[in-house]
Amino acid sequence: MTKCYIRGLGFHVPEHILTNADFERMVETSDEWITSRTGIRQRHVAQGETCSDLALPASLQALKQAGMTAEELSHILVATFTPDAYIPSAACILEHRLGLSGRYAADLYAACSGYLYALETARSLVALHPEANVLTLGSEVISSRTDYTDRGTCVLFGDGAGAAVVSGTPGPGSAEILDVILSSDGALGNLLAVRGGGSAFPYKPGEAIRRDFFVEMQGREVFRHAVRSMLSVSAEILDRNGLTPGEVDVFIPHQANLRIIEAVGEKVGVPRDRIYVNVDRYGNTSAAAVAIALSEARLTGFIKNGDLVLLTAFGGGFTWGAALLRF
Ligand code: ACO
Repeated sequence: MTKCYIRGLGFHVPEHILTNADFERMVETSDEWITSRTGIRQRHVAQGETCSDLALPASLQALKQAGMTAEELSHILVATFTPDAYIPSAACILEHRLGLSGRYAADLYAACSGYLYALETARSLVALHPEANVLTLGSEVISSRTDYTDRGTCVLFGDGAGAAVVSGTPGPGSAEILDVILSSDGALGNLLAVRGGGSAFPYKPGEAIRRDFFVEMQGREVFRHAVRSMLSVSAEILDRNGLTPGEVDVFIPHQANLRIIEAVGEKVGVPRDRIYVNVDRYGNTSAAAVAIALSEARLTGFIKNGDLVLLTAFGGGFTWGAALLRF
């Protein structure tokens, strides 16, 4: 099978920060409730920035780290459920803003697992076109689909983007994508949804926005499935590669909730000091979460050359997956 590498990583978050204290002034909540239930202390929130606005600086950083120019990109793939618009795609807007045209450019919808789905798609493209350089992103402006009067959801989410340049040839400090496993179960889709504006829940001209325009979630059920799915797919990918949890140098689970991260880490069997956590600073950024965490962990030296890195994610659909990287 064709080998496939992450050549460069980058991330970007909006400047504006909403702290738990800010939410205490907006809804009936407390810093104590949010911190103890989720581990989140603050999140970065767009003030007019779009999905492609966040994706652009993340992409430029990833290109720089890869030692490539935008011209060398052949494919652009943006995992998101909050694109600038449904047409044109965030990927087409990003392509234009990178000064490019004539590339493959498309968005991919797999909610919080979107970045892992995009990595596997990039890997398939490289297998089919060995010369391909695939710009692969998770980028979200979840604040555009958040009801800031609903305390059950609004404290959970943040905005941001993470990027990777995926290529068939290695470079300095690159990571080989060793394996990816993806899964889904549409029967559970109603537990976490953004329905309004879809063809099943359309809006008529002049109609007021309904609750269904925003993220709706049955938190407790989602929590249960998130832990179970990320545990089983993490165990499966280690097993099928003949690896033990003790061999994992860095574990990056989806950054939705510290209690989920710690439960998955403990059940998979990776020591707490090898688990990368930034949900306290960014909240849940859906498809961008694992992308941002991977970039930040590499940039700050948490991930070192030679490290075996296990990624796992879970999201609406339901969708879930895991990936193994060797830096
Ligand atoms: N502040 C204060 N009280 C609150 C808040 C808040 N922000 N939100 C909910 N509550 C109240 C509820 O109203 C409820 O009150 P009641 O008992 O009087 O009815 C009480 O707190 C308990 O609510 P639960 O929803 O049962 O609380 P839980 O312990 O399950 O925590 C949470 C809620 C944090 C949402 C948790 O269920 C969770 O993290 N679920 C998983 C979410 C997730 O991971 N989603 C991401 C995966 S997919 C994706 O990323 C898009």
